[in-house]
Amino acid sequence: ISMKDTIYLIGFMGAGKSTVARSLEQSCGRKAVEMDECIEEQERMTIPRIFEEKGEEYFRELETELLKSLSNEKNLVVSCGGGTPLRSCNIEIMKRSGRVIFLTAAPETVYERVKNSHHRPLLEENKNLAFIEALMEERKERYEAAADYLVSTDGRGAEEICREILERIAEEWNKTQTGK
Ligand code: S3P
Repeated sequence: ISMKDTIYLIGFMGAGKSTVARSLEQSCGRKAVEMDECIEEQERMTIPRIFEEKGEEYFRELETELLKSLSNEKNLVVSCGGGTPLRSCNIEIMKRSGRVIFLTAAPETVYERVKNSHHRPLLEENKNLAFIEALMEERKERYEAAADYLVSTDGRGAEEICREILERIAEEWNKTQTGK
């Protein structure tokens, strides 16, 4: 690994990917990239409208294309969409070009974080704990397959989470150095 490899933040909606990405941008000077925002700008449409008018598959294709182009850059912190690791090809792209951090959160935490927002088409009609629990359980395997590290966000602030992420990467990097 190189210290300039991009950091990909993955995890369920409301796990804190965007907040942590902004915090990492401030603390270590990496440029933060919000995948959902890039897609909205590129399409000149909000995510709910893309889902409604073009369908989820179309959106997933845009995610893969965006990841491909981001993987050519270095030293970014990418806040992925909650569904980015659903495609195996996306996992391959991330693993090839950086380190993947799975931000975990309990369903109750997610519920509290998303209950008042209206920009997530998959949750719009399903804002309840049972649905969140079930979808999280269904996706767990994908997130774990993609992850180099798991970092919990329950009851923790962005700064503390950032510190843990940077420590884990530094630790791995040090190991590769001493092994040489
Ligand atoms: C999605 C998560 C969203 C957004 C889209 C689909 C998902 O991103 O990409 O609504 O499938 O989990 P956030 O995780 O940033 O909410």
